[in-house]
Amino acid sequence: MPVISNSAPGKVILCGEHAVVYGQPAIALPVLDIITRCVILAKPNSTSGDVRISDPSIGLNCSFTALRPDHPLKKTIALVLSALSIDHLPACEIQIHSTIPVGGGLGSSASVSVALTRGIANFVGRTLDNEAVNDIAFEIEKLHHNTPSGIDNSVITYAKPVFYVKGTPMQWLEIDSPMYFLIANSGLKGSTAKAVAQVRENWKSATAEYESIFHEIGLISYAMRESLKSGTLSKAGELMTSNHALLQQIGVSLPQLDVLVNTAIDAGAYGAKLSGGGLGGNVLALVPPERAAAVSQALTKSGAVNIIPARFNLSGAEK
Ligand code: MEV
Repeated sequence: MPVISNSAPGKVILCGEHAVVYGQPAIALPVLDIITRCVILAKPNSTSGDVRISDPSIGLNCSFTALRPDHPLKKTIALVLSALSIDHLPACEIQIHSTIPVGGGLGSSASVSVALTRGIANFVGRTLDNEAVNDIAFEIEKLHHNTPSGIDNSVITYAKPVFYVKGTPMQWLEIDSPMYFLIANSGLKGSTAKAVAQVRENWKSATAEYESIFHEIGLISYAMRESLKSGTLSKAGELMTSNHALLQQIGVSLPQLDVLVNTAIDAGAYGAKLSGGGLGGNVLALVPPERAAAVSQALTKSGAVNIIPARFNLSGAEK
């Protein structure tokens, strides 16, 4: 029986989340240690249209027809078929397996969209170029939270570090020094949709103040790009910590995230911040490799429920 298998990575935001929705630059890195795999098994003996879909990470296992039309998985498949001018999917079983925690700010939704988009196209014997995959994943991000900047789908589709400014051509980053990160899960489920909506409400009532914070965050992204170019990791860490302070000011941190940030720094990290939407999720710490074990232990002691180490090498790809 033909089997199609496609995968897509997770992501972290090194700096600039939320401000990126308002036109400021942000930097995101793909994380290849956490992935979504989409496996599609043909059912040659079943009637056309007999499609089942499962995704244990969201407790889903049902027939495709049972999904509401605006369900992100159903919508993804509809957009792929429309992009390929195909009117129905041959009988199959679609399995989505993800090691990316949902609600962790690590790009789980965009990763599912990208893996599923490529999987469906391959299953019908076609391929979609990255631009088409990215466009579909962006449409699906809009279903998850109304005003996505597009950074998550972009970094995940292309699986390359990106300096991202909404509505402008993608600027890929070369990371000239190996960077070692710890991604510490607070155990609290975040909701990017809620965080983005909350920030928008606050921005509406205090526009000048929020614009000024977003501007400061944007300056951090420019400075971060320079420190990545020159390989000044201590400076990169300081910028991350400053970014966290600004994320606190816009109300998307939580005491548990602040504890993890402070713990990482006290234990020898160059710097740390929440990563992604916030209001839960993960803290990203940039660490000297020789301090990684100590920082990791301290984070666990301070309540981190899981720690993912992630390393970026010279070419910008993760090793
Ligand atoms: C989510 O990973 C990043 C946010 O800036 C939202 C977005 O850019 O769409 C919070």
